[in-house]
Amino acid sequence: MKKNGTNRRSAGKIAIIGAGNIGAAIARGLAASGRCAPQDIILTRRRAELLEALRAEKFSVSHDNRAAVKAADIVILAVGPLEAEAAVRGLRPALDARRHIVISIVSGVTTAQIAGWMKKKVSLVRAMSNTAIAIREAMTCLCAAPGNRDALARAKEIFDALGKTVVISEELMLSATALAGCGIAFFLRAIRAASQGGTQIGFHSEEALLMAAQTARGAASLLLGRQGHPESEIDKVTTPRGCTIEGLNEMEHHGFSSAMITGIVTSNEKAAKLFAKK
Ligand SMILES: NC(=O)c1ccc[n+]([C@@H]2O[C@H](COP(=O)([O-])OP(=O)(O)OC[C@H]3O[C@@H](n4cnc5c(N)ncnc54)[C@H](OP(=O)(O)O)[C@@H]3O)[C@@H](O)[C@H]2O)c1
Repeated sequence: MKKNGTNRRSAGKIAIIGAGNIGAAIARGLAASGRCAPQDIILTRRRAELLEALRAEKFSVSHDNRAAVKAADIVILAVGPLEAEAAVRGLRPALDARRHIVISIVSGVTTAQIAGWMKKKVSLVRAMSNTAIAIREAMTCLCAAPGNRDALARAKEIFDALGKTVVISEELMLSATALAGCGIAFFLRAIRAASQGGTQIGFHSEEALLMAAQTARGAASLLLGRQGHPESEIDKVTTPRGCTIEGLNEMEHHGFSSAMITGIVTSNEKAAKLFAKK
């Protein structure tokens, strides 16, 4: 589906249970995609007074999860891992197996756990995305238990309009949390570090940040737009005895690739413990 295509299917009414960082980002992305009017997106959280900024953006807001679910066809669960069981059990009376699709974006909570808490055969999809969904540049990974093929297709259609999607097996969802969910922070920190280097060599901080961010975007676009490989693109920049290879090798001597790899592995291990903590 094209981002700005004209023959898009309306996403219907969507309830987002847990309007925190990612819940609000999904709402903003959905509204920006034109697939949903803001008033057709109902955002809930327990401290409803914190929803005023979203109300000002014309979203429907509520502290009443069940009323939100009754008004919607799609329910996106975006509460914290330790809050998920109580939230799902609370939704149970409002869930209709013939009507609703539940999409959980909760890290570390499996579809089997959610199905057990729902105690109803409601269509269920698990997703992992990132905060770039607010600007429709998310990386979203999706999976569903057998028997949920139509729901998975519907969820994919929605998230395709909000960035890129990939359907994966559920056992890889924690890995998706580390690489795609946490990954936004890793790349932001890399851009910040590049801008600090830029300031040290002469640029004002705002110039350095712009140059670092646009250069990072260019690097990503070289890969995404042309299916390039990082090393073949790097080869085009590294002339023999040149300044790029010298800088790059210096970074590697300080553990650049190793730091990124071990950071992602550590985040993956931590993600596995998020729900287990209970
Ligand atoms: N942030 C990310 O980039 C990201 C990316 C992918 C996945 N995730 C996952 O998405 C979930 C939310 O993450 P987050 O960063 O958005 O956390 P967050 O900012 O803490 O948002 C969670 C929200 O859930 C609300 N909440 C908790 N229990 C509720 C209930 N029973 N009914 C309604 N609302 C409830 C909380 O508000 P009240 O306390 O006011 O109820 C809070 O606003 C987590 O499981 C996280 O692992 C996050």
